[in-house]
Amino acid sequence: MTPPEYEYLRKVLRDSSGLDLSADKQYLVESRLLPLSRKAGLSGIGELVEKVKSGSASLAARVVEAMTTNETFFFRDKTPFEHFRLSIMPEVLRTRASRKSIRIWCAAASSGQEPYSLAICLKEMGAALTGWRVEIIATDLSQEVLEKSKSGLYSQFEVQRGLPIHTLVKHFTQKGELWQINADLRAMVQHRQLNLLHEFSQLGLFDVIFCRNVLIYFDQSTKIRIFNRLAKALEPDGFVLLGAAETVVGLTDVFKPCPERRGLYRLSCARETLSNARPADAAGPKLAAMAGL
Ligand SMILES: C[S@@+](CC[C@H](N)C(=O)[O-])C[C@H]1O[C@@H](n2cnc3c(N)ncnc32)[C@H](O)[C@@H]1O
Repeated sequence: MTPPEYEYLRKVLRDSSGLDLSADKQYLVESRLLPLSRKAGLSGIGELVEKVKSGSASLAARVVEAMTTNETFFFRDKTPFEHFRLSIMPEVLRTRASRKSIRIWCAAASSGQEPYSLAICLKEMGAALTGWRVEIIATDLSQEVLEKSKSGLYSQFEVQRGLPIHTLVKHFTQKGELWQINADLRAMVQHRQLNLLHEFSQLGLFDVIFCRNVLIYFDQSTKIRIFNRLAKALEPDGFVLLGAAETVVGLTDVFKPCPERRGLYRLSCARETLSNARPADAAGPKLAAMAGL
């Protein structure tokens, strides 16, 4: 791959998915795109770049798919799901008692392990949620991972990663060599393709947003823009969970970390005051009512 070809691919990836590759990642791009160009019957990355340049949208989408990291597993990092069960849900049960509804968004849901882990947590709450409307919206840039998530089918290796055996036996059914998450849990999750770089206000407001292990791939200004837009998609007393290597600290003050609850954030200022690009030092009025966590 020539340097101009690499620069072109870097720009395509940054503009279309937010993926911010440093100048020295040619080997990574080659190792992921050579198999794709072969599969597409092309002579190599040079021809792949030419096709993308000449406007092949389907090939451009496949380039993005090949370059994104879809790594995920059930109850990944454990702690976010403990926060969900032990901190978030008790408060939601109290504050939404009259409305009896909860809306959760998994903003980069990959192949479904994260939204289904949340569905399992909710299912295991049993009667506490009787009569409640529960919505889990799973979105991702990649249609391929969303299709897998919709199928709810996982290999032995995938179910062994993060699922205790009793949870597996209780909520999954063996289908040949695969395991399928049961229909009642599949029905709790709605799937939609969505690029976080694009508008998402159409999804409405959420009580809880899981946006984990995706912003880590973006550059600072993209992270800030997305944080500010996530803030507008959150109920004023809602919760945001980020990945273990992600933080808002030093990037924006629209969210504040919850003390002693790693990865958990709440709004720190009234949503109406948010501008589109809010630097970390431009604090808005703090919501006095943000008590609790
Ligand atoms: C590493 S996985 C994280 C999955 C899950 N949240 C977790 O923590 O286990 C990152 C996911 O982000 C998706 N992704 C990458 N860029 C995106 C974008 N611009 N908009 C939406 N999803 C994106 C990828 O397709 C991938 O499925």
